[in-house]
Amino acid sequence: MKIIVLNGSPKGIESATMQYILYIQKKFPQHELKILNIAQQIKKLEKNEEKFQEIIEDVKNSNGIIWGFPLYVMLVPSQYKRFIELITERHKEEAFKNKYTAVLATSIHFYDHTAINYMNAICDDLEMKYIGSFSADMFDLMIPNKRKQLILYAENLFYTIENKLPTSRKNLPLIKQPFEYIPGKLEKEEGKIETLGKKVLIITDSVDQNTNLGRMIQRFQNCFSTKVEVVNIYDLDIKSGCLGCIQCGYDNICVYKDKDEFTEFWSIKLESADILVFAGNIVDRYLS
Ligand SMILES: Cc1cc2nc3c(=O)[nH]c(=O)nc-3n(C[C@H](O)[C@H](O)[C@H](O)COP(=O)(O)O)c2cc1C
Repeated sequence: MKIIVLNGSPKGIESATMQYILYIQKKFPQHELKILNIAQQIKKLEKNEEKFQEIIEDVKNSNGIIWGFPLYVMLVPSQYKRFIELITERHKEEAFKNKYTAVLATSIHFYDHTAINYMNAICDDLEMKYIGSFSADMFDLMIPNKRKQLILYAENLFYTIENKLPTSRKNLPLIKQPFEYIPGKLEKEEGKIETLGKKVLIITDSVDQNTNLGRMIQRFQNCFSTKVEVVNIYDLDIKSGCLGCIQCGYDNICVYKDKDEFTEFWSIKLESADILVFAGNIVDRYLS
């Protein structure tokens, strides 16, 4: 069988998560596990539709899909989240429909259940046949018993696909309800909220003021007696999502310092704020 592994680690094949996939490949040479480095290539996939389409073709021609990813900040890495958005933005859901699928995540078990539930929901939304998940601690591969569990997970995956066993979905389909937010009348000036010297910062990715979110932000800003700053992340030069390189582990300095505007935004605007408000649309069950 041909299984496509959608690699969610920005480290590509060097990733800890992919060592689990390579181990499965070693133990089951009769099957082909083709690793596609989704997160590492996300910029290319965003810009180049042909490259993106190649991934979709691989998905179409496969017997099953493994979503292999690490936990980065309680969810999948941002590059992987973006890939999931591209599937719907480019209307490629059909390629995933009725494909057998499973999740393999590595982490230190901090909110791994959140990321796995999220991916289960994405698979359900794509109408895939979700077999199950394996959530490994990043060093589990060094432990014989954990390796046995990994083998069981892989055996179950291959057996389910080969025998076309039934699966069940866990999440109800999303129901899109059209909704227009029309702000109510503002209270009198004296009813406005005093910030009492506290700095409120709104962070958004809203590109149009004339949307529900745009209107909510304006209404929220107007509730305060003093000016509340809004930062739109589209106005910042952000070279990339987190690379997971852990360079910051040595001295708390990101490899992108002085190469883009993120570190400056973080230390000047974000750290000096007392209250942060994240204002974003939910896209594919999470903030974009
Ligand atoms: C930026 C960053 C954020 C992380 N956040 C989490 C987290 O929220 N929960 C967790 O359990 N592990 C977290 N981890 C640990 C990674 O999930 C773990 O090291 C993983 O095995 C890395 O896999 P990779 O080498 O395939 O990228 C984080 C690691 C990094 C680099």
